[in-house]
Amino acid sequence: MAKSSFTIQNQQDHLRYLDMLKEEFTKKFQERSPCMNSVDDYDIIKAIGNGAYGEVFLVRNKSTFTYHAMKVVAKEVVVERKHVKHLILEKKILDCVQFPFTLTMDVAFKDNVYLYFILPFVAGGEMFNYIQKYGNFSDELSKFYAGQIVLAIEYIHHCEVIHRDIKPENILIDVTGYIKLCDFGFSKKIKKKTWTLCGTPEYLAPEIIMSRGYNYAVDWWAVGVLIYEMEAGTPPFYAGEPAKLYDNIIEGRYKFPENMNGECRNLVKGFLQVDPSKRIGSLIGGVYDIKSHSWFKEIDWHALLHQRLEPPFMPVCNSSGDTSNFPEISQPMLQRCSKCLYEAEFEDF
Ligand SMILES: Nc1ncnc2c1ncn2[C@@H]1O[C@H](COP(=O)(O)OP(=O)(O)O)[C@@H](O)[C@H]1O
Ligand SMILES: [Mg+2]
Repeated sequence: MAKSSFTIQNQQDHLRYLDMLKEEFTKKFQERSPCMNSVDDYDIIKAIGNGAYGEVFLVRNKSTFTYHAMKVVAKEVVVERKHVKHLILEKKILDCVQFPFTLTMDVAFKDNVYLYFILPFVAGGEMFNYIQKYGNFSDELSKFYAGQIVLAIEYIHHCEVIHRDIKPENILIDVTGYIKLCDFGFSKKIKKKTWTLCGTPEYLAPEIIMSRGYNYAVDWWAVGVLIYEMEAGTPPFYAGEPAKLYDNIIEGRYKFPENMNGECRNLVKGFLQVDPSKRIGSLIGGVYDIKSHSWFKEIDWHALLHQRLEPPFMPVCNSSGDTSNFPEISQPMLQRCSKCLYEAEFEDF
């Protein structure tokens, strides 16, 4: 296998840059950001996504005429599912992350019924839709997206944040052709280990299913699942019933698709190690092992970070408020209420 030209010195330089970003993240994390704006500052144009807790709309700011995505979450649903802490952390983390390939937050606010996140509108839509549309991606495109995800995860882990929901639905394609990792709904700041069972079944690492306590390595497992899915069109672990799916994951039982080359197989195998201490990304070499892997040998990591590589695919976006890359979904109405619901629970939002 041909070797990569990415050196340990390159990685050390990158780590110094990440140290700087971490300092900014930590400083912001300790501050309390004020809730500004209200839903009345925006014209709601169209619902473009529905997630686990509520809807995402394309909106336009009434005074600046800029387009944004507005994620709206009903407080009642969050309380019912006992996810109050997750939502407060989601806001905090979204507010603090600052990296080319992670979504940022413009503002957040709340009213009597809902919590609102105003986000930059990423007009190319979900990676998931392109996998559905094209069946799978070329090796070149998979590598281009995987490289950005590796950099984004390396950054958030450096800030001591674990993502826990990496999957094609949570990766958006920007008009530039580059990606934005979104949905920090399951993210958490961790020191060593955590135990909560959360994520999406097909992407769950074995140690999450086995409730043994887990750490950052679960995100590298999900990257392995993601690379496999981009190359094959379907995830590696797939079964009709959840019990069978979990069984396959715990046993590490999957087959490679024929079109996947040897270098890619080798890297995916490195990520899909059932034992997290043997998983690439969590070994002694850390992320250097991933970046210097032969599958990534054509990737100039510095040029990728600075978005100087020409994207192998560009989404079609005709105007800044173009929603044609999002599937048509039902258009819900937002409710109003004269009484403030769950005020105490969401005091810190
Ligand atoms: N900033 C954004 N720009 C465009 N679409 C977005 C944006 N944020 C979210 N979406 C769309 O809404 C969906 C749900 O948002 P997400 O944050 O993943 O919520 P959930 O936690 O409910 O899954 C996404 O998968 C995506 O299709
Ligand atoms: Mg999501």
